[in-house]
Parts: sequence; C-alpha cells; structure tokens
Amino acid sequence: MSEPILEVRDLVKHFPINRGVVFQRTVGHVRAVDGVSFDLNKGETLGIVGESGCGKSTLAQVLMRLEKPTSGTATFEGRDMFKMSGPELRKLRRDMQIVLQDPYTSLNPRRTVGDIIGEPFEIHSEVAPKGDRRRKVQELLDLVGLNPEHIQRYPHQFSGGQRQRIGIARALALRPKVIVCDEPVSALDVSIQAQVMNLLGELQQELGLSYVFIAHDLGVVRHLSDRVGVMYLGKMVEVGTDEQIYEHPQHPYTQALLSSVPVPDPTLRGKREVIRLTGDVPSPANPPSGCRFRTRCWKAQDICAEKVPELEVRLGDHPSACHFAEEHPHVVA
Ligand SMILES: Nc1ncnc2c1ncn2[C@@H]1O[C@H](COP(=O)(O)OP(=O)(O)OP(=O)(O)O)[C@@H](O)[C@H]1O
Ligand code: SF4
Ligand SMILES: [Mg+2]
Repeated sequence: MSEPILEVRDLVKHFPINRGVVFQRTVGHVRAVDGVSFDLNKGETLGIVGESGCGKSTLAQVLMRLEKPTSGTATFEGRDMFKMSGPELRKLRRDMQIVLQDPYTSLNPRRTVGDIIGEPFEIHSEVAPKGDRRRKVQELLDLVGLNPEHIQRYPHQFSGGQRQRIGIARALALRPKVIVCDEPVSALDVSIQAQVMNLLGELQQELGLSYVFIAHDLGVVRHLSDRVGVMYLGKMVEVGTDEQIYEHPQHPYTQALLSSVPVPDPTLRGKREVIRLTGDVPSPANPPSGCRFRTRCWKAQDICAEKVPELEVRLGDHPSACHFAEEHPHVVA
C-alpha cells in the first residue's frame, strides 16, 4: 500500500443563501459539499465523478484553499492544510495546483503564453531566477508537447487542446506534487480529449504526480484513474478501485451512471441494460431526507427516507452508501 499524500475527512462546504436588500438575512444554506472523506495516495489518480451541481468544483476549490471549508479536515503530507499559514502555506501553494475546464477563460488573452506559463515564477521566484525563466518556460512548453518557439504567441493563436496544454504547463511550473484537474477535457472534442488524457498520464509517470481528476462521466476517468469516487448531491456514494467500480458497482446511482457510458466493444453493444434516471436532481439547498438519491431510485423503500445510508463496506470489499447495496453486473450477456 502506498502512503496517502492527501487525507480528507468529513469535509463540508455550505454557502449561505441571503435575502433582503438593506438588511441581509440568511434564509438557508446550499449544502454543496456535505461530509466527504477520501485519501489520495502518492502517485495515484483518484477520479471524482457525478452530475452537474453535485459539488465537484466546490470540493476542488476548498482543497485548493480558494474557499474556506465550513467544517472537516484535510491533511497534506500529514499536516493540517486548513491551519497552514506563512511559509508552510506558501509551500502548499507550490505543491498543489489546479487545472480548470475552460482554458480560454482561465488564460489572459492579452498576455503571451510565455508570460502566462511564467506567471507562477513571479510569485515564487525561488523556483526560477529571472534570467532563467525563458528557458524554464520553453522546457515546460516542450514537456506538454508544444513548440518552445511559440513562447511569444497569444492564447487565441492556439487550438482548444493546445490551450489546455498551456494550462497544464502553467500548473507544472512550480513542480507540484498534487494536481486537482477540474473537468480539464470536458470542453474538448473526443479525439483531443484522448490526447490530453494521454499527456496527463505520461506526465504523471515522468514526474510522479498525484491527481484528483474530476469529471461528470465515468467513461472519461476510466483509463487514468486507479480509484474512483462517485458523488451525488454533496456526498460520496461509492468509492473503489477501477475494477470495483466498473465491474462490480453496488450503488444504484453508480449503476445508472455506468449504464450510459458508451460501450467500445462492438460485440457487447446493445446487450447492456440501460438505466434511465427519471426526475431532476433535487436542490442541494433542500436535499431529500435519509438517502439523497431516493427521489430517483427505483429500489427505494421506507427506510431510505428515514435513515442516512453511511458510506461503508456492506458487501465485497469496497464501501457504498446504500441500504440495499447489491452487485449489478452492468453488462447483460
Ligand atoms: N459561491 C457559491 N455560492 C453559492 N452557491 C454556490 C457557489 N458555488 C457553488 N454553489 C452551488 O453549489 C452547488 C455545487 O456546485 P459545484 O459548482 O460545486 O458543482 P459541480 O459538481 O462542479 O457542477 P458542474 O458539473 O456543473 O461543474 C450548486 O448548487 C451551486 O449552485
Ligand atoms: S439507500 Fe435506498 S434510495 Fe438510497 S440508493 Fe439505496 S435503495 Fe436507493
Ligand atoms: Mg464544476
């Protein structure tokens, strides 16, 4: 077993809902992340998957210390991340980086790629002294498969996939240990997605990186992830290895998500049971009692409205949060 680099426990992030123009009062809370726990081991990729609005980006923002958690803890290399300040926080800001979904809005259109990729060196000049920056940026361009001679070009002179490579180069500039990837390929064409995923895989091997990789589709994370966590309405409903999640899913939500992943093997196509989820995702400001998935679950019983199913090992050897967890082979032969 490898060592965890990141340990997250009962992480909660609620956003207050304020009303009133003159006298603002809090009338409720959006429970965006509502008790999430996981470990990220050194050198591994943990995929985090769930529908829009389930709290993935909020989780990423809290982990990057861009948002304050409401409660819960997270340790980086054994030290409490949320208590860090001064030089320790500065080091954390080097060690953890984020890659965002839309490279176009996250790249300043008026700066050259050289300036964009070299920007982290302005804050952390110890990593690259001024005279050495151009060479370092060119090395980074080369590392992500871009032409080092294009250092003076602007973001609009690159394609979507190339812009995401620029975003990755910038995230790598400070030699981080962990990269949180928040849907980095969701805005790209499928063929380009595969290239960027391959690049992330190669960089991981070469640099020993650990990834938290967020996606809304189980298909996207399959090839890169060692383990996957499935999120629904602010909670983790199942966590397991690649094989446990894709071959032996136990939670009805995981089973439904899997049933809509395209099947690459033509001999299996059309032989799989497709589970269509009905009903909308409930609001995280007012989640259902008991199991949050119960309003869309075809297996729901009375107990599901009364008792919150904890994320625990119920059968087999990986945890799921369903009172009636059972294996459901998603391929029906
Ligand atoms: N700053 C904020 N203030 C209030 N509510 C917020 C804020 N940020 C996110 N939310 C709410 O928290 C919930 C989770 O949002 P989040 O962006 O984390 O979801 P997501 O899983 O990343 O979705 P997507 O797949 O669309 O990116 C949503 O209901 C969202 O409206
Ligand atoms: S606990 Fe009940 S409602 Fe929730 S997923 Fe399991 S069967 Fe469905
Ligand atoms: Mg998001």
